[in-house]
Amino acid sequence: MSAQALIASAPAFQAALLGWYHAQRRRLPWREEPSLYKTVVSEFMLQQTQVKTMLPYFARWLKALPDFAALAAASEAEVVKLWEGLGYYTRARNLHKLARALVALPEPPRTREAWLELPGIGPYTSAAITSIAFGAPAAVVDGNVVRILSRLAADGRAWRDTTAAGKDLAPLADALLNHAEPGDHNQAMMELGATVCTRHNPLCTVCPVRAFCAACRAGEPEAYPRLAAKAIEAVTVLRAWCRRAGDGALLLHRTASTARRLAGQHELPAAEHLGVGALELAAAGAPLAVKKRGITRFAFTEPIHPWPEERLPRALPAGLVWIAPAELESVLMSGPHRRWVRELLARD
Ligand code: ADE
Repeated sequence: MSAQALIASAPAFQAALLGWYHAQRRRLPWREEPSLYKTVVSEFMLQQTQVKTMLPYFARWLKALPDFAALAAASEAEVVKLWEGLGYYTRARNLHKLARALVALPEPPRTREAWLELPGIGPYTSAAITSIAFGAPAAVVDGNVVRILSRLAADGRAWRDTTAAGKDLAPLADALLNHAEPGDHNQAMMELGATVCTRHNPLCTVCPVRAFCAACRAGEPEAYPRLAAKAIEAVTVLRAWCRRAGDGALLLHRTASTARRLAGQHELPAAEHLGVGALELAAAGAPLAVKKRGITRFAFTEPIHPWPEERLPRALPAGLVWIAPAELESVLMSGPHRRWVRELLARD
């Protein structure tokens, strides 16, 4: 439908969407016995992470830190350690700051505008949290919602990225919001995007709102949204695998706390951390493994080369630390480095 026709049919659209959601929704832990705390934690985790990935983290988190008071009282190190493996650690630090701000208030605010003033809260989280926890009339716009709305209206505008598309589609999201049940409406939109109106091979035949969808009628849902292709840049980072004779400690680089994204994380050292050139590290021996991963628009290739302890300078360069085998599981490490270290240790 055109955006105008869609808005004119908003009540029928909402009814079809909610009926489907109430019958089909996934039984998720923050939906069964909802609380403000569970809503906040789940929405922080679900930014940039899929439901199935975050579920074990959510359970572990609630066990260790069951409410805002416990979270506010925890140390930053404990909080970041509990987040380990989920990535984008700024979310954990922001959630921690938010808990500290909330426990300092007589009671949590209930409007989207008031939440936007709190640390770590942006357009998405303010709408998601206040609509779900307090029934505030705030429509969420995330990647799922952008996909659904652009398809419903067959909106062929070309956007730079999801954020730009979200800005243009926010008025339509607001116009379609169900003011009687804004929290369920928002969760239904996200659920539809995650399970039916998927990026590739959307399941239009079982879609509860296909009667309203111009892209489905035209038979080309995958043509929307039109987002500029990300320019992917290939980057190679050589890593070193260096064990200490005697106790078998592993050489790691600990990121300085000024680098916010990875503050305090331990990683296999790169050539620059050893103070040597990439060619020199590569020449030390054939790679034990070659790892690939994508981070934002960068495609990383990371060969891990052996580096003999004898070639380290007498005084370890700044940031390098020896971690004994028994300590390896307790230091902070990103998900990929954790897997690589476990894999190579098992082989040594
Ligand atoms: N993604 C982010 N928040 C969500 C929620 N509450 N339900 C389903 N998917 C989500």
